Amino acid sequence: MAPRFASVLAVALAGSHLAFAQNPDDTAEAHPKLTTYKCSKAGGCVAQDTSVVIDWNYHWFHTADWLSCTTASGAINTTLCPDEATCARNCFVQGDTNYTANGVTTSGDTLTMYQYTKNSDGAYQNASPRLYLLGSDGNYEMLQLNGKELTFTVDLSQLPCGENGALYLGEMDKTGGRSQYNQGGANYGGGYCDAQCPVQNWRNGTINTSGAGYCCNEMDILEANSKAISFTPHPCTDADCDRNGCGFNPYSQGYKSYYGPGGTVDTTKPFTVVTQFNTNDGTASGTLTSITRKYLQTGVVVASANTGGDTLTSEMCNTLDSGAAAFGGLATSGKALARGMVLTFAIWNDVTGYMNWLDTGSNGPCSTTEGDPSLIIQNNPTTHVVFSGIRWGDMGSTFSSGSGSGTTTVKVGTTLTTSKASTATASTKVTTTTKTSSTSSAVGPAQTHYGQCGGKGWTGLTACVSPYKCVVSND
Ligand SMILES: *[C@@H]1O[C@H](CO)[C@@H](O)[C@H](O)[C@H]1NC(C)=O
Ligand SMILES: *[C@@H]1O[C@H](CO)[C@@H](O)[C@H](O)[C@H]1NC(C)=O
Ligand SMILES: *[C@@H]1O[C@H](CO)[C@@H](O)[C@H](O)[C@H]1NC(C)=O
Ligand SMILES: *[C@@H]1O[C@H](CO)[C@@H](O)[C@H](O)[C@H]1NC(C)=O
Repeated sequence: MAPRFASVLAVALAGSHLAFAQNPDDTAEAHPKLTTYKCSKAGGCVAQDTSVVIDWNYHWFHTADWLSCTTASGAINTTLCPDEATCARNCFVQGDTNYTANGVTTSGDTLTMYQYTKNSDGAYQNASPRLYLLGSDGNYEMLQLNGKELTFTVDLSQLPCGENGALYLGEMDKTGGRSQYNQGGANYGGGYCDAQCPVQNWRNGTINTSGAGYCCNEMDILEANSKAISFTPHPCTDADCDRNGCGFNPYSQGYKSYYGPGGTVDTTKPFTVVTQFNTNDGTASGTLTSITRKYLQTGVVVASANTGGDTLTSEMCNTLDSGAAAFGGLATSGKALARGMVLTFAIWNDVTGYMNWLDTGSNGPCSTTEGDPSLIIQNNPTTHVVFSGIRWGDMGSTFSSGSGSGTTTVKVGTTLTTSKASTATASTKVTTTTKTSSTSSAVGPAQTHYGQCGGKGWTGLTACVSPYKCVVSND
């Protein structure tokens, strides 16, 4: 499962830059830096110059006259966007210059994501950010994890029933669908796809004219709150995906006190999640045969839920999920992991199903109604997730089961860096109002910013202030 957008969020114009779909200004989007680490047995963990980018749909699309390219219902205006070329000519994607306003902050190797943000009037509004890991070249960082492992620390203590703090991989296009009609690409969070084959306004960075969904391999590493946890491979063929996936959840396997507040994995404190993608021959090109999950807390590996260990094998996957085999099961997921997948972070809740599939009934201890977002915003408006120390590489290179309390030690080159997941204060009851979307009161473009600077019969200014350039788009 993955979050869905109810509507496109409009963002404030003040102080921001513009990017014309055909001439994007890459400095416009202010990507928060997030250090991650690539590890090998020989070289230890080396810090990567990475950042996060918010999904394309969180951006504002507008004409040169500052009219929205989306309609009141959140669809794309088909007069402005009847086809890819016309849409690219008429509509601009505005860079996001303030991720804090989207509920996202980073510091070093720590990423904090809030479900709600507070307005200036004190009311909370839905933010529910979704982010991708971006490399320093403006393309997505492609994680090749077949035969490798991925490790990170997470603090889920502030996520109640119904919330989902997610870290997963999707086989998106490395460039975010960058093309002649979308030169922003990954820099603007383009190209989202997943195993639910979402039908979106945009497909791979350009306008969806066919109405087709956009399917791709998805590997859910973590979908969790303080009460329930699951990891789920979702393999795809060209036509469709295993939408259910073979979810691995200790509670549904009968280990009901393993995970949760005060559990064997105690969610009142941060813990470290290790995921190992084991191949038949131990190489990065072998066939994926199983996935092993380990948890570390206070620096030591927590005993696994059952004596067989927390390993999901191909056989278990096919048993847990009758749909898996038709899509080639774990072997198909392994091929996607070998090609490379995009690391995705999200915090979301679910107005229709209250996330019951994750944490109620046989999957967790939550009631079927407490995940209602209208209760969450009342009782836990500051709900948030903290990810830190994200590292991947050779088996056994990303963690060690040493000592330490609440800290993760990461070897960076020859130096040791210690990252401590931030702790957050518990939320108190705050009366809130929901706000679904905000429309910005657009002021006319000034030539100093992004105004008309030429064209047939034009007698106005023909130059723009630095750093902007006058670019021909049409007569
Ligand atoms: C589409 O855009 C045009 C031009 O800005 C506008 O006149 C029209 O009202 C818009 N349609 C919708 C449904 O918003
Ligand atoms: C960014 O957004 C936050 C939250 O809305 C606000 O407090 C802050 O002033 C904004 N920063 C800038 C530079 O606009
Ligand atoms: C996505 O867009 C890129 C750039 O145009 C292209 O190379 C790639 O094939 C596209 N992928 C899909 C699945 O359409
Ligand atoms: C995208 O696809 C959906 C589903 O077919 C359709 O309703 C919608 O109009 C499409 N949007 C655009 C802009 O093509």
